[in-house]
Amino acid sequence: MKRIVIVGATSGLGLATVRLCMREGWRVGAAGRRIEALEALRAEAPEQVEIEPLDVTRDDAVEHLDALIRRLGGMDTYLHTAGIGFRNLELSPDIEIDTLRTNGEGFVRMVSAAFGYFRRNGGGHLAVISSIAGTRGLGAAPAYSASKRMQNTYLEALEQLARMEAIPIRFSDIRPGFVATPLLAAEPRYPMLMPTDLVAKKIFRVLQKPRRRVVIDARYALLVTLWRLIPQGLWVRLKVRPKE
Ligand SMILES: NC(=O)c1ccc[n+]([C@@H]2O[C@H](COP(=O)([O-])OP(=O)(O)OC[C@H]3O[C@@H](n4cnc5c(N)ncnc54)[C@H](OP(=O)(O)O)[C@@H]3O)[C@@H](O)[C@H]2O)c1
Repeated sequence: MKRIVIVGATSGLGLATVRLCMREGWRVGAAGRRIEALEALRAEAPEQVEIEPLDVTRDDAVEHLDALIRRLGGMDTYLHTAGIGFRNLELSPDIEIDTLRTNGEGFVRMVSAAFGYFRRNGGGHLAVISSIAGTRGLGAAPAYSASKRMQNTYLEALEQLARMEAIPIRFSDIRPGFVATPLLAAEPRYPMLMPTDLVAKKIFRVLQKPRRRVVIDARYALLVTLWRLIPQGLWVRLKVRPKE
């Protein structure tokens, strides 16, 4: 029976993925800040689900992760979905810095701890949900797009490190386009919005059969291919923003 830890399991893509893992009979360690949401999740299948409240921006988050892994009896797969994102055309410093704290500092804290666990325990599968937003700098959400690019690069660096040390870790960088989760709830309408359950199914497939880099879905894969081809001088002249 596979044992997976999902950090960011209380809503949206993380929660939907937890439910798919439960349906498949996996043992799940679920983490996030909201204790009530975690308790409700555990109540769905107490024999299968362990929970641990933690805040990835806090120093003690790794201790909580270790405690969760111990209660789960070990970890085969780590999925990092914890993240925040805001449109910030006003460039409010609070939003920019909070985003970096969660998607940057918090991401590195947890993903490096998962790497350390796999290094000590003979390998595993380290998967993260980054975003297509890391493909180019996005004027509507500067810290969000920069933090997602950092996540892409960080995972690549860890993959190289694992190979240098011959540690058998599989890496997956999962990059969805816009998904109808609470993360986008307060925002204007987004184009090509995908249902959470559909995207979670594609994420779950990657957890079953690891793939290194996955853009969800095919339309977004085409879009980011086109984005990459746009010269810098033209890119900065484009208005890439959701409809008001
Ligand atoms: N929705 C999209 O369009 C989209 C597209 C591409 C990528 N993504 C990425 O997908 C991931 C999941 O987002 P979502 O769309 O599912 O949004 P969501 O429903 O808001 O879920 C975010 C999750 O992150 C957790 N989280 C946030 N801050 C945390 C912290 N400081 N410590 C621990 N957990 C924290 C939240 O739990 P608590 O609040 O309980 O802590 C929640 O479980 C994010 O990394 C996001 O950037 C989303």
